[in-house]
Order: sequence, then structure tokens, then C-alpha cells
Amino acid sequence: MKAIVLEAPDKPLAFKEVDKPTLAPGEALVKIKAAALNRRDYWITIGKYAGIKYPTILGSDGAGIVAEVGSDTDKHLIGTEVIINPGYGWGNDPNFQSDDFKILGLPADGTFAEYVKVQSQHLHVKPAHLTWEQAAAIPLAGLTVYRALFTKGKAKKGDKVLITGVGGGTGAFALQFALAAGCQVFVTSGSGEKIDRAKHLGASAGVNYKAQDWAEQLHHLAGGFDVIIDSALGDGFAKLPDVCNPGGRIVVFGGTAGNIPPLNGRKIFWRQLQIIGTMMGNPDDFKAMVDFVNEHQIIPVVDEVFSLADAAKAVQKMESSSQFGKIVLHA
Ligand SMILES: NC(=O)c1ccc[n+]([C@@H]2O[C@H](COP(=O)([O-])OP(=O)(O)OC[C@H]3O[C@@H](n4cnc5c(N)ncnc54)[C@H](OP(=O)(O)O)[C@@H]3O)[C@@H](O)[C@H]2O)c1
Repeated sequence: MKAIVLEAPDKPLAFKEVDKPTLAPGEALVKIKAAALNRRDYWITIGKYAGIKYPTILGSDGAGIVAEVGSDTDKHLIGTEVIINPGYGWGNDPNFQSDDFKILGLPADGTFAEYVKVQSQHLHVKPAHLTWEQAAAIPLAGLTVYRALFTKGKAKKGDKVLITGVGGGTGAFALQFALAAGCQVFVTSGSGEKIDRAKHLGASAGVNYKAQDWAEQLHHLAGGFDVIIDSALGDGFAKLPDVCNPGGRIVVFGGTAGNIPPLNGRKIFWRQLQIIGTMMGNPDDFKAMVDFVNEHQIIPVVDEVFSLADAAKAVQKMESSSQFGKIVLHA
């Protein structure tokens, strides 16, 4: 089969012939129809990710058709249209992942291939209202955002929610999920055009995080926020407590803009704020997220679709952060 392989730190991604995986009991082989990028794939290609090994087939997000199974008891799955939960080995505590937690696409070979081997229990029926490309966009970002907003951030109807960096794959999902839950949503972005797109999708207003006074502008537009979803950290993070309502929750799962500077800690205790870390999600979060997508007929924002052979170009686009929503590969 053909796959996108990361062969060495200093080599470009290779589109090459590799062996088709063989199955053990409990596993399934999915013929990939579409796969999607996450910033993780970019971090791995530039060597900034823990536990990188060579060679690896990248890709955590995938949608496709079950082609083979490793156990007779899973035979009914053959032919099913599926999306894949890429989080493996969560463990028993719903609050945090076990030491065995792993993500499809490193160390195990991922979805940027004609076929991927997964554990059958990680398969979920593809939402019927979505194309292959839209369905492939969901798993990692949808899961992370669902848990950040609802399981951890406790966002509910009527809450005021701020999404920082709305143009990213997770940012666009956060906007769509929060709107579907009946929240009033404000955004930041480094691009006025992306703020306009967010408003077109239903955001109330947005400000450019590159402006010196972005937090003051936001405060003027929105007052304070009950929930903030941030995957950037960086210098801007120090201003987030300033724009929180008392009792507000700032939920973080990424550090695209680097580490955080000193914070005014007094604001955190005086306003009884919570700064909450989260990581992808557990199997219950994934199931609840897929149910939510079906219930609200969410259609993920797909920025651009590249062919599998052009995965390197797709990663370059992610590096430039010029996308709005998810970058997808079709097999
Ligand atoms: N821990 C987890 O479970 C988990 C899961 C998913 C993602 N992540 C992490 O979360 C981050 C986002 O992932 P992604 O896949 O959505 O990446 P992505 O699609 O590449 O989006 C990154 C976005 O970050 C925004 N950004 C850049 N600098 C910013 C700043 N100074 N302030 C605010 N926003 C800024 C940009 O938004 P604009 O384009 O609007 O300017 C950019 O589009 C990454 O760091 C990723 O590694 C972690």
C-alpha cells in the first residue's frame, strides 16, 4: 500500500510503498477514504514532539471503510463506514489519561496511508450527514474541544465563551460546538479575514490578538467570559484572567505561541478563576462528541483538501497557519 512515511529527522516526508498491516485478534483494517492533519503532525515533522521514532506513518485522524478484521466476533464490522478514536490506553480514571496513553500516528502507524490498523473498539460509525473529508476532520480536534468545552469547562447555554486563535482546526470546532450548545461566542485571531469568517459562522465579535490592546477591545465588546478555550498560551495568556467573569474557567490544551509569562495571581484567587489543563479525551468523551455532532448536525469546517501524495504541502500550509479549519487529505 502507499503511505506517507517520516523516515529520518532531516528527510522530507516520503510517499512510498510499504507493507499492508497484518491483524491480531481485536484489530481491524480500515481502508482510508480521507485523513486530516493536526498540529501534532507538524510538530513531529520538525522534531518537536516526545518519543519520535523512525520510520513512522503519520496521521491521527481518519475516516474509511472496515476492510478486514482479526476476530470472527468482529466480522459484522466489515463494510461499515467509520471514524477512528485516535486516543489509545486512556485507562480507568476519567479525569486523566494513564501512563500507557498513546495517540495513533506515533508510535503506532497512522492514517496517512491507504490502510490503517486499529483496535476495533476505537471504531465509531461515521456520521451519515458528512462527506468523507468532513468526517475525517472530526476525531482528534473534535474530541479535544468537546472535553475542553463541556467535560472540563462546563460550558452551558447562555455562557459567554472566548475562543483564542479561532482559525486553527481546534478553534473552528470550538466555535461550532459552543454555538450549538447555545453559548454566546467571541473569538481572537491573527487575521481580520478569519474573524469575519468566524462571525459568518455565528461568532458575536472578534479582535486581532496582534493588537497591543486586544484584551481591552474584547472587554469593551463583550464584558467578561465564563469559559475561555485557549490552545496558544504565549504572552497573551497573561491577559486572559483580566477578561474572565468571577468563577470563570480558562481551559488549555496547547502552547502554539510558547510558554506563559508571569501572571497576576491575585486576580485568579480574588475572582475564583480556574485554569484547567486537558488532553484529548476518554472513550466516553469521544462517544458523547460523536453523538453531539450527530444531534446538532455539525459540519466541520474543511479549509482545503490535498491528495495523500501531497501531504508535505498540506503540512507546509499548517506551518504557515494560513488555514481556517481543518486541512484534509484524500486517499
Ligand atoms: N493536548 C491535546 O490534547 C491537544 C489536542 C489538539 C491540539 N493540541 C494543540 O493545540 C494547538 C492547536 O492545535 P490545532 O490542531 O488547532 O492547530 P492549528 O490548526 O495549526 O491552529 C493553530 C492556530 O493557533 C492560533 N495562534 C497562533 N498564535 C496565536 C497567538 N499568539 N494567540 C492566539 N492564537 C494563536 C492561530 O489562529 P489564527 O489562525 O486564528 O490566528 C492558528 O491558526 C496546537 O499547539 C496543538 O499541538 C493539543
